[in-house]
Amino acid sequence: MTQVSDTEVFDFAAERGKCPYDPPPVFQRRMAERPVSRIRLWNDQPVWMVMRHADVRAVLTDERFSANNLAPGFPLITPSGEALTQDNPTFVRLDPPEHGRLRGMVNPDFTMKRAIALRPQIQQIVDGLVDQMVAKGPPAELVEDFALPIPTQVICLILGVPYSDHDYFQSCTRVMTDVKATEEEVGDASQALTDYLTGLIARKAEEPGDDLLSKLVVEREQRGELSRDDVVAMARLLLDAGHETTAMMISYGMLLLLRHPGQLAALRADEKLVPGAVEELLRYLTVIHTGVPRLATADVEIGGETIRAGEGVLCFLPTANRDPGRFSDPDTFDIHRTDRGHMAFGFGVHQCIGQGLARVELQIALATLVRRLPELALAVPFEELRFRHTMFVEGVYELPVTW
Ligand code: HEM
Repeated sequence: MTQVSDTEVFDFAAERGKCPYDPPPVFQRRMAERPVSRIRLWNDQPVWMVMRHADVRAVLTDERFSANNLAPGFPLITPSGEALTQDNPTFVRLDPPEHGRLRGMVNPDFTMKRAIALRPQIQQIVDGLVDQMVAKGPPAELVEDFALPIPTQVICLILGVPYSDHDYFQSCTRVMTDVKATEEEVGDASQALTDYLTGLIARKAEEPGDDLLSKLVVEREQRGELSRDDVVAMARLLLDAGHETTAMMISYGMLLLLRHPGQLAALRADEKLVPGAVEELLRYLTVIHTGVPRLATADVEIGGETIRAGEGVLCFLPTANRDPGRFSDPDTFDIHRTDRGHMAFGFGVHQCIGQGLARVELQIALATLVRRLPELALAVPFEELRFRHTMFVEGVYELPVTW
């Protein structure tokens, strides 16, 4: 008899099984028994959970599903999500054609080619952080001392945001991505971030530099293609979207490798394995674990179920990336895996704009750690680590290491 129920309340932080990296057993069961099924959100709103690889792909490439979170009935995963819908979300929550018009303005700065051109600067940032760790330690705390500063320094470089302000803007985004924060706290943090960027962009309009924000404010705003609020919203999105995700992939990824010493040794022996290892880490860990939300604007059949216009959908990436119909032996972590096509970066028009950059950062970060600190090991027992199951981005809060 099926244990999957329509009235269960969606809790992405549901109890984990034996392995903290696996999706919670309640979702594994749902995937096996009813991979397109209804569940309830915190506000009692029914929403469809779409869990298989092919079905998630179908939703994310179908223009009848909207990403506009201001539309009535759009599924909000947490109460604090209400506060964030008040902001101008720019292209991440717009549908075509407006989505493409705005995303197209920054796309050229986020191609794989541009990311590869940044390699020397990224390598310099990563080497500098390892130098600092070596000068101070061992031990070190890999999240704060290494994983977080990499994406933050890189995106600051691209946007032209002073890295010295990172404590301030990261304290805002930390509140905004904490699902336990109240609506008021999220609203205040979000306003503080907007105020900070408004001030910075006003200074760039006066004295432009050679960076993306200056380019947006000087070229696009002056041509009337963007308002000042649009520039601030884009700055917010780009500054925000990439640092926790990439930082968690670096630290959580390193933890997973430390738990698989044979595969770690293989990487150390052959750096050519690094890009494949990064893809497998992205698939296996799927740090965006709360479901990618969409709203049906017409009746659509997905996986044999009819999703009606006005109904919400959560595309659940952790189970899609462990779908036995798509990946052989999906629950095994294997850096030699050749079946690609994971959706850790989403899919369709909203697929992550920063994926090239994230891949290069992850490759350089992990290859450098493995090369320069070959004796790297956990400095505390694995059982003492605190996992971020209740945060929007999965990972560990701290990763104490020694070498
Ligand atoms: C490993 C690191 C990363 C992961 C796992 C990740 C994951 C994702 C996912 C799943 C989406 C799709 C959201 C949706 O469909 O609603 C997305 C979109 C996005 N990501 Fe990333 N991301 C990462 C790194 C970055 C970086 C470094 C940036 C920096 C620019 C970035 C910027 C964005 C933006 C702006 C969008 C919205 C794209 C659109 O709506 O067209 N991400 N990301």
